[in-house]
Amino acid sequence: MKIPRIVILTGAGISAESGLATFRGSDGLWEGHRVEEVASPEGFAANPALVYEFYNRRRAALRTVCPNAAHEAIARLQAAWGERVLLVTQNVDDLHERGGSSQVLHMHGELLRVRCMDCDRAHRWQDDLDETSRCPACKAVETLRPDIVWFGEMPYFMDEIQEALTQADGFVAIGTSGNVYPAAGFVQMAARCGATTVEINLEPSQNASLFDLRHSGPATVEVPRWVERMLDSSSAALPRIKPLPPWRSGS
Ligand code: OAD
Repeated sequence: MKIPRIVILTGAGISAESGLATFRGSDGLWEGHRVEEVASPEGFAANPALVYEFYNRRRAALRTVCPNAAHEAIARLQAAWGERVLLVTQNVDDLHERGGSSQVLHMHGELLRVRCMDCDRAHRWQDDLDETSRCPACKAVETLRPDIVWFGEMPYFMDEIQEALTQADGFVAIGTSGNVYPAAGFVQMAARCGATTVEINLEPSQNASLFDLRHSGPATVEVPRWVERMLDSSSAALPRIKPLPPWRSGS
């Protein structure tokens, strides 16, 4: 059996059943804040104390949650198929790692890392962060920020991800609303290069019509089911879809 190359993209929906809130609630706020207040360089410059406190609360919340069956299923697939599976997450939590994934590309950064705006080095960070925190490398103060990719900033690992998408046989998006680029464009990139595309989400996302296959339901049910199918038989799990979807038909 030839093992396919798979790129998996996860979003906040995969961690929802672990108890972490998704971003796009019906009120349009992120845990009570406008996104630009807490997730942009301008918001940080305007009110660093608010931004430090916001991420301190979210970092502390990680200690109260555990990985779920969806994180663990992806780790099983990675353990079985090794480097043929590339796991990319938009999530800044550490639940994939704690679920057993050895390789995770955090394209939007990590809550458990900080970056020094002076020397540009990043460090693992478990505790609260504020203006008095000192950079472990250059020893400067007032220079550390959460290592989170904010709006207007370039996500991490883009070259690696794009290369993997061009070589992928399958692309799977799990628990992401398809609202934020460049991640929202990965499905089209993968499809253009010949991959079969699959969405697993509680409900159809904004991008649902772009996928060849859709599985609706909670991640803790649908992801283990999909992984078991993949492990049982790669050809059954990623069937080629006919006819070609419109964006590949040249119309
Ligand atoms: P969103 O909050 O936009 O979307 C979460 C998705 O998960 C929705 O499509 C839900 O239907 C789905 N969902 C919720 N519960 C689920 C469950 N139990 N099982 C399966 N699916 C479920 O989160 P993201 O798409 O991850 O960026 O948001 C993308 C980016 O926007 C984030 O990384 C963040 C934010 O601004 C930065 O911080 C830079």
